[in-house]
Amino acid sequence: MIFRPGTAVWVEHPDLAWAEAEVVSSPASPSSPSSVNVVLSTGVKAVVDGRKVLPRDTEADLGGVDDMTKLVYLHEPGVLCNLARRYTLNEIYTYTGRILIAINPFAKLPHMYDMHMMEQYRGVQFGDLSPHVFAVADSSYRAMVSENRSQSILVSGESGAGKTETTKLIMRYLTFVGGHATGDIRSVEQQVLESNPLLEAFGNARTVRNDNSSRFGKFVEIQFDKSGRISGAAVRTYLLELSRVVQISEAERNYHCFYQICASGQDADKYRLAHPRNFNYLNQSHVYELEGVSEAEQYLKTRRAMDIVGICFSDQEAIFRTVAATLHLGNIDFSPGKEFDSSVIKDEKCKFHLQMAADLLMVDASLLLSTLCYRTIKTPEGNIVKAVDSSAAVIGRDTLAKTVYARLFDWLVDNINKSIGQDMESRSQIGVLDIYGFECFKYNRIRILLQTSIAISLML
Ligand SMILES: Nc1ncnc2c1ncn2[C@@H]1O[C@H](COP(=O)(O)OP(=O)(O)OP(=O)(O)O)[C@@H](O)[C@H]1O
Ligand SMILES: [Mg+2]
Repeated sequence: MIFRPGTAVWVEHPDLAWAEAEVVSSPASPSSPSSVNVVLSTGVKAVVDGRKVLPRDTEADLGGVDDMTKLVYLHEPGVLCNLARRYTLNEIYTYTGRILIAINPFAKLPHMYDMHMMEQYRGVQFGDLSPHVFAVADSSYRAMVSENRSQSILVSGESGAGKTETTKLIMRYLTFVGGHATGDIRSVEQQVLESNPLLEAFGNARTVRNDNSSRFGKFVEIQFDKSGRISGAAVRTYLLELSRVVQISEAERNYHCFYQICASGQDADKYRLAHPRNFNYLNQSHVYELEGVSEAEQYLKTRRAMDIVGICFSDQEAIFRTVAATLHLGNIDFSPGKEFDSSVIKDEKCKFHLQMAADLLMVDASLLLSTLCYRTIKTPEGNIVKAVDSSAAVIGRDTLAKTVYARLFDWLVDNINKSIGQDMESRSQIGVLDIYGFECFKYNRIRILLQTSIAISLML
């Protein structure tokens, strides 16, 4: 593109991503548009690559537009500038047609999500009120009721953008419009909402980007009867990050439940647990606490959430026994054995952890040890038992810990689903997908700079 002198433009900037500028002189000929002389709004002169100069709308509203399809130039700097202008005015939501862009406020905004706000958005045409996550949820609900078609809402964005919070708000709104009028004690909607802390205790962890990062994908399907009332729900999870159970990076943490059980007082004593620094699966990072979070309180909340979704006391005990066993399992270390490529348990401390892990998992300790130190190879002639070296024994131990944890997580999800109950006769559903990923740092500047999350309402 050829720019006349005096044209308002955006140019790439190493710190700001894009900077406002004005063209001083355009390239000599249209066939060589490589360099353009510009002056930045700070007065600094620069020569920039003409292919990376984009036009700027000087008449754009300083308050930004609430729907970015109204922008004169719908390009990256135009979008970023509009979102930044709105964010400065505490407007965290903006539409791009049917897509809602949310910028994480990193502050509690109770007035944005209270009952009064839900009432305001109820039944109002999409776009008539200011952009809001409730408007997306309401429009899905209305479309489902009026067109009798299932809907799905996709919530996407980089880690820490606010996907899970947005998903919870959507669920809260759907339970508000589709909840039962009668206050039955453990209604479906209550159980769906209450299953969140439980799944988060076992599937969320601190990462460098987010203290409560979901390390699994979640699809919540809310089922409705013919009068538009919630009649059942199902939670589907996938791709739990299992490597985290046995390996964590500095500044990150393992799954919350491990720290909660270590802080559980009497229960921790019962399972012979101590401070997280004593466990190999937790002390690879030196972050043990989260700001403003009491793990002891969180432990009680997790227990309460289990009560609410209907997990009985003996199952709760089995769950925490398994969590404690995983920690003890991680402390079983090996030394090279006398024979070539063999391994033995390292010392008395490790023997204690082996015994604890075996007791808690209700298996025989010597059988557990031989399973870790020997490998059985199946051949047509029969089974061959072969010793493994200490590093292979460690790999086996970690694989066992990951498998046990994966089974525990799946068991929890199954139980949540059983307890909530699915409506096989349901007329239509609204699915909400909280999907993680997209941490490609080099090029996704929009996500990095503005921490956006996007909710799109799709018709199935
Ligand atoms: N609408 C909001 N209002 C207030 N705070 C928010 C909002 N959205 C997000 N946050 C804050 O940002 C934090 C991170 O949000 P959230 O856990 O939803 O991110 P995420 O996109 O699900 O990240 P991950 O992919 O790591 O799971 C929350 O713990 C909360 O403090
Ligand atoms: Mg999340």
